[in-house]
Amino acid sequence: MGKSLSRTLTGVIVFAYGLFTIALYALSAISKGTYFKRPTEKEKLELQLARDRLWNLSKDYEGLSHHLLTLQSGFKFHFLSNDTPNTAQTIASDKPLVIFIHGFPDSWAIWRHIIKNPALQQAVSIVAIDMPGYGGTDSLEKYTATNVLEKLTELIVTLRTQYGVDTDAESNKKKTVIVAHDWGCVLSMRLAAEAPSLAHRFILSNGPSVKLVESNVRRILFSSKKMLSNAWRNPLQARVPLTQAVRTISPLFRQIFLSGYIFAMQLPIPLVHHFLTAGNLSLLRSIHIRSRGKAEHNAHDISECMASSMGPSVAEAKTKTASGDSYPITLQDERAFAHIIHMANYYRHRASTSPWNKSAQTVASLHSITPGAGRASSGAGLFNEGPPGALKASTTVFWGQNDLALDRRICLDGMSDFLVQGSQIVLLPRTGHWTPVETESRAALLKAVEWTVQGEKGDIGDALQTSYPGVQVTFSK
Ligand SMILES: *[C@@H]1O[C@H](CO)[C@@H](O)[C@H](O)[C@H]1NC(C)=O
Ligand SMILES: *[C@@H]1O[C@H](CO)[C@@H](O)[C@H](O)[C@H]1NC(C)=O
Ligand SMILES: *[C@@H]1O[C@H](CO)[C@@H](O)[C@H](O)[C@H]1NC(C)=O
Repeated sequence: MGKSLSRTLTGVIVFAYGLFTIALYALSAISKGTYFKRPTEKEKLELQLARDRLWNLSKDYEGLSHHLLTLQSGFKFHFLSNDTPNTAQTIASDKPLVIFIHGFPDSWAIWRHIIKNPALQQAVSIVAIDMPGYGGTDSLEKYTATNVLEKLTELIVTLRTQYGVDTDAESNKKKTVIVAHDWGCVLSMRLAAEAPSLAHRFILSNGPSVKLVESNVRRILFSSKKMLSNAWRNPLQARVPLTQAVRTISPLFRQIFLSGYIFAMQLPIPLVHHFLTAGNLSLLRSIHIRSRGKAEHNAHDISECMASSMGPSVAEAKTKTASGDSYPITLQDERAFAHIIHMANYYRHRASTSPWNKSAQTVASLHSITPGAGRASSGAGLFNEGPPGALKASTTVFWGQNDLALDRRICLDGMSDFLVQGSQIVLLPRTGHWTPVETESRAALLKAVEWTVQGEKGDIGDALQTSYPGVQVTFSK
C-alpha cells in the first residue's frame, strides 16, 4: 500500500517536473525567437550538403570510409574507418584498434575533428560507430541495458577479430582502446565494470558512472537527514545544522535542476517528440550552438552538427558503399525524424541503470579474450572488487569542468574509489560538456589517444600540457 502510494507520487512528481521543463524550454525558445524561426534557403542547402558529406555511403570523409557490419543476429552497425576491416592487410598490421562511441544527440560525426587527423590515421585503426538507433545503425525495440550492451559487446568482439586484435591462435595481439563521450561514456563505464576485457584502456569523457551517482546521492541524503534531525532535536541551536544541511543537499538540487530534460524524456511519446523536434528542431540546434563553447560558430559548422544528429536523409539512405553495402532496411523505412524517439528511449528504457543479463554467447566470448583466461582464474576478481559498479579496466576519465548538464559533486566525487591501477582523472578547466568538439579539449583527447598507443610512456599530465595548458591530473594510480 505505502509502496504503491509512493510510486504513484514519484510518477506524479516526474510527470509534473517533466512538463514544467518543456514549458520552460518552450517559453525560452519563443522569447529568443528560435521557436518560430524558419530556415533560410541558404541554411537548407548547407544542411543538405552536410548530410551528403557525412552520410553518403559512396563518399569518403577525410580519409575515412563507410562500413556496415552485420552481427550474427542480423543487426547492422554503421561505422567509419580508415582501414578496411577483415582484410589480410588490416589483420596483419600492428596498428592498435581505437573505437569511438558518441552520446546524445549525436553520431560518429561528433568525433570528426579528432579522427580526420592524418597522424592518428597513420598510427591506429580508427572505428567511429553509430550507437543502436542513431545515425546509420539499426534500431532496437527496447533500449534496456541488456539489449544495448549485448549489441555493443558483440560489435566490439567482432571488430577485434576483423582488425586482428584476436585470432584463432592468439588473443590480445595488439592494443584496443575505447574512447567515449556522454551516453557512450555512461555505457562504456558499464563495459569497463562488467566486461573489462573488451579494451586495454578506456578514455571516457563527461558521462557519469550511474552507480557512483547513486552512492553520492545516498551519502548526501544520509548526512543531510542527520543534520536536520540534529536541528530538530535542538531547535534553539538549529541554525548551524540547518545551514549545513542546506549546503550538503544543494548539489543534489542543482543536479535535479540540470536534469530537467531527463524528466521530460519520461513523458508520453507525443510530448517527448514535441519537446525534441518543436520549432524545427530548435532544441537540438540550440544544444549544438552552445556546444561550440566560446569558439565562433558559423552556419557551416552548425549544419554539420545538425547533420550529425539527424543522420541520413531519405536520399542518403539509398546510397551504397564501394563494396555494395547499404544502410539497414529499418532506416530506409522510418527516416525523417522518427529516430529521435530511439534516442529518447535510452532514457525511457533505463539503459544506464537496468541490469545487464549476459547471454551465454557473450560470457563465452568475453572469456576467450580475457588475458590469461586459460589459467586457473576462477578466483580472479573475487578480492579487491571495489564498490558495486567499480571499473575493472585501466581508465582515463576526462572531465570538462564547466559541464552545464552534470554537477561534479554528484558525478565525479568519489570516482577514484571506482578506478583500478593504471587509471587517471583529468580535469579540463576551460571546457564544458562537449569535449570532442571544443577546440582545446579535442586536442587533449587526441593527445591522450596518442599517449596510450605510444606505450603510455611518462606522465599523462605532462603529455597533455602542450595541447591543453593548465590541465589538472587529480588522480593517478
Ligand atoms: C524545417 O527545416 C527543414 C530543413 O531546414 C525545412 O526543409 C522545413 O521546411 C522546415 N520546416 C518548417 C516547418 O519550418
Ligand atoms: C552520393 O555521392 C555520389 C558520389 O559523389 C553522387 O554521385 C551521388 O549523387 C550522391 N548521392 C546522393 C543521394 O546524394
Ligand atoms: C537472462 O537471459 C537468459 C537467456 O539469455 C534467459 O533465459 C533468462 O530468463 C534471462 N534472465 C532474466 C532475469 O531476464
